[in-house]
Amino acid sequence: MRVDDITLRVAVPGDARALAELAEVTFRAAFAAQNTDEDMQAHCAASYSEAFQGAEIQRADYQTFVVERRGRLIAYAQLRDGAAPACVSDDSPIEIQRLYVDATWHGKGIAPRLMQACLDAAESRVKKTVWLGVWEQNPRAIAFYTKFGFTQVGAHTFVVGSDPQTDLIMQCLI
Ligand SMILES: CC(C)(COP(=O)(O)OP(=O)(O)OC[C@H]1O[C@@H](n2cnc3c(N)ncnc32)[C@H](O)[C@@H]1OP(=O)(O)O)[C@@H](O)C(=O)NCCC(=O)NCCS
Repeated sequence: MRVDDITLRVAVPGDARALAELAEVTFRAAFAAQNTDEDMQAHCAASYSEAFQGAEIQRADYQTFVVERRGRLIAYAQLRDGAAPACVSDDSPIEIQRLYVDATWHGKGIAPRLMQACLDAAESRVKKTVWLGVWEQNPRAIAFYTKFGFTQVGAHTFVVGSDPQTDLIMQCLI
């Protein structure tokens, strides 16, 4: 598959439906094997819809990037400028709230481009620290973030459906 015919851009309201579909597909692909159908369904119903993603795309405290190939979204990332856990060593950091790539495109350089877009956007918002939460049972994502200089500074609970899970909190100084 060619990677030179992709476009990385800021999401627009017209992306909401395709983004909701991509968000649910990539979440399920990543985590369905390790979670119950009920928990997956509850999380997806509470998180992904044309209305939810449409609202997120327009929020001033969010920035959403999408990667498009031949008219189809294949990856996305979302920054959220807001409160952070106390273990994050900065009182005005920014969060990478979501970073998901369609499984076909893992290991093909799409995720690093999205990460760089997030770091550049953080820098242009005059941020010095980027943080994120990643499930402790997601070694590939942890390895990916570590490649970019993120280190673990703590942990918190992230509830998927009814299942309280442990997310590692990682941060990167930019
Ligand atoms: C996390 C994600 C965005 C990373 O994108 P990617 O294209 O897979 O990332 P890369 O291939 O550049 O980097 C992953 C690294 O983990 C390594 N890796 C792969 N499988 C691994 C495993 N089971 N354990 C540890 N490391 C692993 C890869 O070899 C690679 O390291 P390398 O570049 O030194 O070889 C992508 O895998 C994804 O979308 N996953 C599903 C959704 C998800 O988990 N999102 C993050 C939620 S916090």
